[in-house]
Amino acid sequence: MGNAMTREIKRAESPMGTTPGYMPGFGNDFETEALPGALPSGQNSPQKCNYGLYAEQLSGTAFTAPRGQNERTWCYRIRPSVKHTGRFEKIDMPYWQSAPNIDPELISLGQYRWDPVPHTDAPLTFVTGMRTMTTAGDVNTQTGMAAHVYLANASMEDEYFFSADGELLVVPQEGLLRFHTELGTIDLAPKEIAILPRGMVYRVEVVEGPARGFVCENYGQKFDLPNRGPIGANCLANPRDFLTPVAAFEDREVPSTVTIKWCGQFHQTRIGHSPLDVVAWHGNYAPVKYDLNTYSPVGAILFDHPDPSIFTVLTAPSGQEGTANIDFVLFRERWMVAENTFRPPWYHKNVMSELMGNIYGQYDAKPQGFVPGGVSLHNCMLPHGPDAPAFEGASNAELAPVKLENTMSFMFETRFPQHLTAFAAREAPLQDDYIDCWDGIEKKFDGTPGEK
Ligand SMILES: [Fe+2]
Repeated sequence: MGNAMTREIKRAESPMGTTPGYMPGFGNDFETEALPGALPSGQNSPQKCNYGLYAEQLSGTAFTAPRGQNERTWCYRIRPSVKHTGRFEKIDMPYWQSAPNIDPELISLGQYRWDPVPHTDAPLTFVTGMRTMTTAGDVNTQTGMAAHVYLANASMEDEYFFSADGELLVVPQEGLLRFHTELGTIDLAPKEIAILPRGMVYRVEVVEGPARGFVCENYGQKFDLPNRGPIGANCLANPRDFLTPVAAFEDREVPSTVTIKWCGQFHQTRIGHSPLDVVAWHGNYAPVKYDLNTYSPVGAILFDHPDPSIFTVLTAPSGQEGTANIDFVLFRERWMVAENTFRPPWYHKNVMSELMGNIYGQYDAKPQGFVPGGVSLHNCMLPHGPDAPAFEGASNAELAPVKLENTMSFMFETRFPQHLTAFAAREAPLQDDYIDCWDGIEKKFDGTPGEK
């Protein structure tokens, strides 16, 4: 920890002028340079690049992916990436697990809930502090996901990381993180999210700690904005609220390590400089952040409760139309106005597997027990729904317009069953009594008509 302030980080001015350091838009074709004239004009790979830079393409999709999905970025860097790895040695990262990870001793079938994973005194970085809760699918076939809780109290100094296994969707709950990536710097606070693309190198500084949050590691096709259908061209997450950093680079010649996650295994390589040496870039494969407060929820305005897919922020397709590898869904402050309606989420069994996390406040279906930093899991075809007090309260409430205040939870929902890790089953603060929350639900039926 410590010397981050003495680093020289050269950063471009924002071309938009309004939000220093970021460019607005989702999946845009951006261009940015930290030194004037570093970006070639009119071509990608000139015979010689300005400043003696090397041109390199980073392909986030197959070359032949359809135009609307095709993502790549051209980087103009101090050294090509082949100089940012040497020989690899395998290292242990016992708490960061990948699918398939099916322990025959563990029971993933059940409704589970955890208190926040507690901070530790041991120094943990964003990488070494990753604690996998569930895995789904198969990292080797690029299907499925893993859900993690991260604990971070130490900055990565001359330590860099990238994952070949998928993009990371980061959902902070406590603390401030700064992601120094190859393509620029992202500051991330609670109520924001960030996406770090597959293959992108970065280090993570803990600006204010200890930091805790949630990560969805997406092994499959990238997150995209959902189609809105009849909702039209606006609301939900709007593209202009996504921010991609302007170019920033480190010209730093010091012994450094790069850790690489590849097919579920971790490898380390040693180099003599910072790999964050991209002086200019253009393209559409880039890290991005988003303020969840800009999410515009759409919902019921007369009766009944739409499916929670109405709250989808981002969706990662699976190849089967309409069935996501992952949906990222947000339950935030909103008005409840439906008439003659049971307003909380209804009782439910789902082919999709639902992992939820609480960012702050109180979730309407579970007034108690699901606390900020906590996690719950309702796996494939496992019933769930309001607990007894929530059911009784919502069944008897006077249905005036009510604003749900002080609430922000999310869901990572996947088509693949989620398997508990040994950490989630044995070390994390599992609530043994979660299933008892439905104990108080009464049989009201007695064969006679009328409301009970
Ligand atoms: Fe559900």
